[in-house]
Amino acid sequence: MKKFLALVLALCMVLALAACGDSGSPSNSSNPSAPADSGSNSSAAPSDSAPASSGSVANADKPVIFFNRQPSNSQTGELDMDALTFNDKTYYVGFDAVQGAELQGQMIVDYLQAQDPDTLDRNGDGVIGYVLCIGDIGHNDSIARTRGARLALGTAVGDPNQGLTSVSGINDVDSAPIGTNKDGSAKDVQDGSITIGGKTFVVRELASKEMKNGAGATWDATTAGDTINAWVGDFGDEIDVVVSNNDGMGMAVFNAWSQAAGVPTFGYDANSDAVAAIADGYCGTISQNADVQAYLTLRVLRNALDGVDIMTGISTPDAAGNVLDASVFKYDDATRCFYALNGAVTADNYTSYLDATAPNPAFNNQVSEADAPTAKVWLDIFNSTDNFLNGTYLPQLQNYDGILNLDVEYISGDGQTESNITDRLANPDAYAGFAINMVKTDNAASYLNKLQ
Ligand code: BGC
Repeated sequence: MKKFLALVLALCMVLALAACGDSGSPSNSSNPSAPADSGSNSSAAPSDSAPASSGSVANADKPVIFFNRQPSNSQTGELDMDALTFNDKTYYVGFDAVQGAELQGQMIVDYLQAQDPDTLDRNGDGVIGYVLCIGDIGHNDSIARTRGARLALGTAVGDPNQGLTSVSGINDVDSAPIGTNKDGSAKDVQDGSITIGGKTFVVRELASKEMKNGAGATWDATTAGDTINAWVGDFGDEIDVVVSNNDGMGMAVFNAWSQAAGVPTFGYDANSDAVAAIADGYCGTISQNADVQAYLTLRVLRNALDGVDIMTGISTPDAAGNVLDASVFKYDDATRCFYALNGAVTADNYTSYLDATAPNPAFNNQVSEADAPTAKVWLDIFNSTDNFLNGTYLPQLQNYDGILNLDVEYISGDGQTESNITDRLANPDAYAGFAINMVKTDNAASYLNKLQ
């Protein structure tokens, strides 16, 4: 029935195009179930081999996929539903930040509990001191990870921004950086406790800081590498553990100090270099399944372009056999968000994660040009130096762009200013769809305005 309707719609479009010529034809906004691209149905495909163009579709009606940075208020975390419902082909693709953050916290505690308590407490003062590298205080992934670590380590206090004085779940936790906290008097954390091998220790967050460089780029690995030297100057062998919101910063600390010092270090992302470092003492990371996210980013774009069921090749196999296992993602229809699920990567299992850029055979099959005609799309990565996005996510996108017949123009930003990226979206008419990675989660409008 659906197929029949699609056929009728496609036929109507062909007739409409024939009646009014190519120029000035109306957008299909009044007909949201129509294929986004007039060339996406084989019977209506233009005879030349040009990529399926956006010719008759208004830019405001083209697919828009936000990824990695969820349109949301960076102060409150509230989703920007205006952006997420920009049109009926707008979605977000990310990963489950809370599930991943809880997993990271648990991984750290499991590791600590398996250690010899006397070796772990390096100066024998009865306090397990940790330092925390924060990525971006306005990024919900970063906020969740700070919360997850504090909750697991018993250092969490209620978030004053939400008027909370106690914590009943991860989202209640104060995620503010504390600067330094030598005596345990910082207001945004409290001293926790942990029992290891029958011995109970105080757990103290000695220091935490947003790793932002002078020019404003967040999640900055170089800043983390510099900061650990300062922290070691302040705390020396009081630092027993390093926790980082991501591997870029975690590996900078590992390379600058903690590997040589033999101090357990934990990150997030499962970048190839971090996974390899597990053999050399890096203690663990979390895979946010970049393969699943990269595929979803392009797949949802593809499906929206073709006007097919959005779950094609996702929860239901496409004609080429591509499909995602239900255990690796979830979808929230109310907010139009796809989330990959996370997995812990430790000394127990890291050998199966060594190549973070390998394509996943479950969804690496070439789709046919008849089902999904080549289309030119625009995609930006907010920061050309971000380890995860450039070293893991981008190669994964490049695994799947070809099999989905997407001719992707990749744009790299400077990580600091939105206009550095949006200026390169000067001619949206040239693209059939857009995949957007913002500098700041609040700034969806600066991209969407370009499409109005
Ligand atoms: C990753 C970070 C990355 C950030 C960029 C996060 O999900 O874990 O490594 O820097 O996204 O937005």
